[in-house]
Amino acid sequence: MKEHIDSSNLPQHIAVIMDGNGRWAKRQGAARVFGHRNAIKAVREVTEGCAELGVKYLTLYAFSTENWNRPKFEVDALMTLLVHTIRGEIKTLMDNNVRLGTIGNINSLPADCRRELTEAIRETNQNTGLTLLLALSYSGRWDILEATRKLAADVRDGKLTPEQIDETVFDQHLATGGIPDPELMIRTSGEMRISNFMLWQLAYAELYMPDVLWPDFRKAHLYEAILSYQQRERRFGKISEQLVK
Ligand code: IPE
Ligand code: IPE
Ligand code: MG
Repeated sequence: MKEHIDSSNLPQHIAVIMDGNGRWAKRQGAARVFGHRNAIKAVREVTEGCAELGVKYLTLYAFSTENWNRPKFEVDALMTLLVHTIRGEIKTLMDNNVRLGTIGNINSLPADCRRELTEAIRETNQNTGLTLLLALSYSGRWDILEATRKLAADVRDGKLTPEQIDETVFDQHLATGGIPDPELMIRTSGEMRISNFMLWQLAYAELYMPDVLWPDFRKAHLYEAILSYQQRERRFGKISEQLVK
């Protein structure tokens, strides 16, 4: 499987909606939180898989703006899990030369989460391989609104004129400023929706939605997703004949 991947045509940026933890747990008659705990192995596999292949950016949707509306005990359990996972995974990140970053409303996270994140970001800061972005308290609309606020402030302060706001300038004001758009977006669990994830950035992403629940996701699934991506024709509005092969 892995040997069939064309290394000259890798997506630079893969984004993943890690979905299906609750259903995975329910299938075995366990509480939803059990599914979240068993999701860490999949996170490790996809991170290592991307790092080994030479993918530059991996964004994992771990907690959405809307996920704050879940029952309090589930939100609390997810935050606790986050703290322990970051602490426990620093070695894996270092071993794989992975640099950690975040996108989202990080200030809304509990103080211990923020502390662990800041520490892990600092420790992995010099790594030069894959950049792993955790989307936490993130949503596409939040991102677009934040960018709009920053742009409005820049115009107010005379740093920018409204006419100067083009796609490049707007892009730079998003949480992903400076990072290429994901060419491939994977959503597990068979659900066919975007759920407010990277609305601007996914404009031309290839979507891959396998019927596997996130805790069961392994490197082989990542390879399948990339192979599917490599078989697609990305036309960006043009016709086939216009594309340079
Ligand atoms: C994804 O799994 C994890 C988070 C949203 C934090 P879910 O918890 O959404 O699992 P399902 O979709 O209910 O199965
Ligand atoms: C999307 O999954 C958010 C994350 C995976 C973090 P959800 O399970 O929250 O999405 P919906 O509610 O099914 O759309
Ligand atoms: Mg879900």
